Amino acid sequence: MRESVLEHLLPADGELAAHLRGSMEELETRLRAVATDSSDPLIAEAAGYLLDAGGKRWRPLLVLLGAQFGDPGTASVLDAAVTVELIHAASLYHDDVMDEAPLRHSVPSAQIRWGNTIAILVGDHLFARGATVSLGLGEPARRAQAHAFERLVRGQIREVAGPRPGEDAVEHYLDVVRDKSAALIALAVRLGGICAGADDRIVGDLTEYGEALGVAFQLSDDLIDILSPPVNSGKAQGTDLRAGLVTLPMLHALREAGAVRLREILGGGPVEDPALHAEALDLLRASPGMASARLEAERHTARARAAARRLPDLPARQVLESLCDLVGGRSS
Ligand code: IPE
Ligand code: IPE
Ligand code: MG
Ligand code: MG
Repeated sequence: MRESVLEHLLPADGELAAHLRGSMEELETRLRAVATDSSDPLIAEAAGYLLDAGGKRWRPLLVLLGAQFGDPGTASVLDAAVTVELIHAASLYHDDVMDEAPLRHSVPSAQIRWGNTIAILVGDHLFARGATVSLGLGEPARRAQAHAFERLVRGQIREVAGPRPGEDAVEHYLDVVRDKSAALIALAVRLGGICAGADDRIVGDLTEYGEALGVAFQLSDDLIDILSPPVNSGKAQGTDLRAGLVTLPMLHALREAGAVRLREILGGGPVEDPALHAEALDLLRASPGMASARLEAERHTARARAAARRLPDLPARQVLESLCDLVGGRSS
């Protein structure tokens, strides 16, 4: 794992820290082995490409943390962690095609390396590998997984389709974010709880935590797209603008009375012209819309914190709360 979030979260020693570090190392080995398990060298190479290049591994870490509220030694917990990261990685292969994003994890995106068709099919390969690993998780876990996957796909489709006639643009965007991003983040903590045999009430609180954290995570991602240079994010800056995606910070910025020029630029659809793109990014960075979107993100981390505080007072609960702070301050 190249950009471990663990170092920001955990004391150097302690039982939980040692367990999480050991499990995340094991995860890394399993993940790579499962993803690249193919008789075809092209599939093996392309499927390991983004995993090798980077990724913060938030979702498998969330599986391990959820499992702390049951028996964390249950064998299926690691399978669940591998499954969610495979679904995530697969969604990135597809997402970069959809968003025409040239850079991911600081390397050229899969479709730049191999073209759209291979990138899409390698994403499918990863989804299939995830489905295979999840076979032993039991029906409740697999039901939750299928439901989250359906929501992820719905979110991606509804993002491209835009608001329906008469639908409020902010409400539409929040719905999209809940589906495309929060569903998988919530699935991660939920699966940890389910696989470890945690009580239903605990699994419910873990899920609420993940849903709220997931919305905050995506809203931070929308801000990162506007504010963070590639050296921090590993992604091209302003990809959303270039793809014609109007994210929450942009919606807030557009609602400002003085946003005449921004409305003019964004009103024309995707902003591809380099000079217009740079101008729009400058206008967005200077807009009070950034602070409004940050405030909205903080509302969701507060919800996540409240759900975490309903959980039993174990060391893992503290880590879940610390993740809320990390989401607000992240730049990658
Ligand atoms: C990117 O997720 C896609 C979103 C849902 C915002 P991550 O930021 O977790 O992706 P990694 O860490 O690069 O894999
Ligand atoms: C995140 O998409 C959701 C999925 C990948 C399913 P984004 O397009 O907002 O995320 P980044 O910014 O490319 O990581
Ligand atoms: Mg994208
Ligand atoms: Mg996208």
